[in-house]
Amino acid sequence: MIRIAVLASGSGTNLGALLDACAGGQIDGRVEVVLSNMPGAGALERARAAGAATEVVPSKGVQRESHDAEVLARLSRHTPDLVCLAGYMRLLTPRFVSAYGPTSSTRGCPRIMNIHPALLPSFPGLHAQRQALAYGARFSGCTVHFVDEGTDSGAIIVQAVVPVLESDTEEALAARILSEEHRIYPRAVQWFAQGRLALEGRRVTVRGSRPPEPVALRSPWDE
Ligand code: GRF
Repeated sequence: MIRIAVLASGSGTNLGALLDACAGGQIDGRVEVVLSNMPGAGALERARAAGAATEVVPSKGVQRESHDAEVLARLSRHTPDLVCLAGYMRLLTPRFVSAYGPTSSTRGCPRIMNIHPALLPSFPGLHAQRQALAYGARFSGCTVHFVDEGTDSGAIIVQAVVPVLESDTEEALAARILSEEHRIYPRAVQWFAQGRLALEGRRVTVRGSRPPEPVALRSPWDE
């Protein structure tokens, strides 16, 4: 059983998916603590309802280094094996990233993951769904990746693809992507818990996983 810390700034539906997967046995782990920089975050309510500890470290007007130092101090009380960012709207300092870098037992993998609502490296940063729509991409999706010091630039663990429909609004596309987020994030965390992930260079391997069906997706479809 791994000890998981989740950092979230918003409503926490991905947190909810992780909590459910832990409770349902799809993740061999437990969410020990949920930390938020937003005192009113819905994620904190979900955490309390699930019996996880909560920590609030407000970030407004606080310098990044001192905020992260406090976050690190609070997290260390809960000795997490893995830190999951789930809608955490802060870029981590190098000090934070190295505090949860690889250990001798993680096969080169850092111990921080993030979920991003686009097919990285396309559309990093804020409003990824809006960016995909405005760009005219025919497909978008979501990515679970390890966290490095950049914005959404760490090694990719798993992605899911969804079509962008001509009728889409930002909200409709975001909802389609979100339901895939809730599927792939728990899986990536379970692979970590099972020790199945390894990282070499930028390439992550997942031991025992099957390759995808050898199909190509095309959009639009007119045959
Ligand atoms: C998700 O779209 C996630 O990919 C992004 O922030 C959003 C958080 O949503 N990083 P929620 O708080 O998990 O509902």
